[in-house]
Amino acid sequence: MEEHQKSLKRENFSSGIAVFFATLGSAVGLGNIWRFPYLTGANGGAAFLIVYLICIAFIGIPVMVCEFYIGRKTRKNAVGAFDKIGASKGWKTIGFAGIVSAFLIMFFYSCVAGWVYSYLFRAINGDFAGINPDASGAMFTKTILGPMPPILWQMIVLVVVSLILIAGVQKGIERITKTLMPVLFILIIICDIRAITLPGAAQGFTFLFKPDFSSLTAAGILTALGLAFFKLSLGMGTMMTYGSYFTEDNNLIATSAKVAISDTIVSLLAGIAIFPAVFSFGMKPGAGPGLLFITIPLVFSKIPLGNLLLVAFFFLTSIAATTAMMSLVEVPVAYLTEEKGMNRKKAVITTTAIMAIIGILATLSVDKGSVLGKVSILGKGFFDLFDYISSNILLPVGGLLIAVFVGYFNKKESIVNELSNEGTLKNTKLINIYLLILRFVTPVLLILVFLNSIGLIKI
Ligand code: PHE
Repeated sequence: MEEHQKSLKRENFSSGIAVFFATLGSAVGLGNIWRFPYLTGANGGAAFLIVYLICIAFIGIPVMVCEFYIGRKTRKNAVGAFDKIGASKGWKTIGFAGIVSAFLIMFFYSCVAGWVYSYLFRAINGDFAGINPDASGAMFTKTILGPMPPILWQMIVLVVVSLILIAGVQKGIERITKTLMPVLFILIIICDIRAITLPGAAQGFTFLFKPDFSSLTAAGILTALGLAFFKLSLGMGTMMTYGSYFTEDNNLIATSAKVAISDTIVSLLAGIAIFPAVFSFGMKPGAGPGLLFITIPLVFSKIPLGNLLLVAFFFLTSIAATTAMMSLVEVPVAYLTEEKGMNRKKAVITTTAIMAIIGILATLSVDKGSVLGKVSILGKGFFDLFDYISSNILLPVGGLLIAVFVGYFNKKESIVNELSNEGTLKNTKLINIYLLILRFVTPVLLILVFLNSIGLIKI
């Protein structure tokens, strides 16, 4: 009997530090190192960055607090949480949509993570020694076209993530994130020091920090919003699920702010590592998804210990990608174990198997000359389609619904009680300001961006 009770007991993170690093481990990922720089580059630099920062402050942080609130209050997975909190049936759709988003994101995320793992392997092998811009471009093309190697790397990524997740919340997620996130921070700063000493680095800074609003389009604004959701792992139940493992004494508003700020710093540091190099080597900031893979080997190509730094850089990117993926996979895993009674191992294997099968479609669609590469739905191949639907549609819509649900369909006492840890925090004033933003600023901004993106208004 006791055994049975034990197996039903939910695992939690063990301390405030563990909560912080696990949550940061979910937020920091390919979004910072791969997506943030290439989207900032493609959408005009600093002006895009400003819109992005506004989205983080007035939409991202408030929605993150909502997810933590729902998760910790109910201690349930993203679907079960809405039942437990007493929401009417329709709200559960947010949880199901979250599971769909987790899969859509994993399909292309695991593909890019595979490229990163393979670059780590190449760097260890010394393949980048003395490389020039043309050869670096060719190397990237060779890496993504395959067809077999990128699929194999993608499968390796999925196996690594599954093994960590099978180990559980404390022994898996917590242990890995607590050890590796600080290492990541140090490594990225070393990369920055190298990048800012490149000749012509100043131009990269101007691009990243001096706004030119004429280069910002409506599509760019929607992309900045989508990136904010993607970055902070919001709108799809990841932060709800992690929130359900938080300690009772965690300060939810403070954790959200700390995670959002740290995550933004990592993105900026990644930008500072990449843009000076882009300009220094005469490349185009709008080069697209290959930006990271083509520039970084060049940054380190001609300096002493360059190869060692390159190994370090791709190691850190692999860590970031892996810890973020763990949190993506945890959404369906928590659902399957709690709602469908599967054991953890079976849930992880089932989820990973589905990700592997459809993920291969995304990977193969990258080669525009192949049969799958020619498939186009809404004018996009599988890879871009999964990315667009999840980041630019499902996550922001999910975020809007979560904000409306908490802001308008939950009792104020219940929110105050949870966010103040039953009155122990004495932060009622802050909670009141938070509720004002959540009710009146967050949804309005979200709706404005949507209307702007379909051309009904002009921001
Ligand atoms: N935040 C992660 C990144 O930036 C991606 C992610 C999105 C993770 C959604 C979980 C949920 O790489």
